[in-house]
Amino acid sequence: MTVKIAIDGPAGAGKSTVAKKLAKLLGFTYIDTGAMYRAITLKVLRENISLEDEERIVEVARKSDISLDGERVFLDGEDVSEEIRKPIISQKVSVVSQIPEVREILVKKQRKIAEGKNVVMDGRDIGTVVLPDAQFKFFLTASLEERARRRYEELKNKGTEVKYEEVLEEIKKRDSLDSGRKTSPLTIPEGAILIDTTDLTEEEVVERVYEAIRKNTKGEI
Ligand code: CDP
Repeated sequence: MTVKIAIDGPAGAGKSTVAKKLAKLLGFTYIDTGAMYRAITLKVLRENISLEDEERIVEVARKSDISLDGERVFLDGEDVSEEIRKPIISQKVSVVSQIPEVREILVKKQRKIAEGKNVVMDGRDIGTVVLPDAQFKFFLTASLEERARRRYEELKNKGTEVKYEEVLEEIKKRDSLDSGRKTSPLTIPEGAILIDTTDLTEEEVVERVYEAIRKNTKGEI
């Protein structure tokens, strides 16, 4: 039997940092589903496709070869790990990710990658749609201001010029699109352990998640 761990939550709640550390700690495969939506968005922008042209966007999703290797993301063989984190992608990704056919294509891919493996997968619909049978489901959240502050620091450390207010607005808009869309909106999965990370350090969050897993498996993991 394989173990699946689902981590969902809004932007800046600390999902990917925690998921990466947890995967390393447990020796599991880390799967960043947001990176896949970002890669499709990058290709759509590169090809100058209008964000209203759903048909062509779906075509891009269908024809693109997206693969993950640990923390690296490849689009048609090209390493796009850095490029997909740029603000322009963050601003547009939620428009692409709300298209039902795009989700269908990527969800299928995500399930296939997880097949037969112990995985930690993070995203918006992992515990609800992608891996509803996951043995462990976590939902990470934090105040909007704290999430914006974290994302702002992250971008600043990478040398990207942004204003805090812009990041805050982008996250607010993305929250609303991700939570309000018709197909698999961001919601707390049934049975998920909810963690508010506003006043916690990354280490403290990892510790809580790890402890919850150990407690529920009687220390077997
Ligand atoms: O890292 P951050 O929280 O900023 O976002 P991400 O995980 O890279 O996801 C980027 C965007 O992809 C989200 O805002 C969603 O619109 C979409 N997404 C999704 O719809 N479903 C997922 N399972 C993962 C991401």
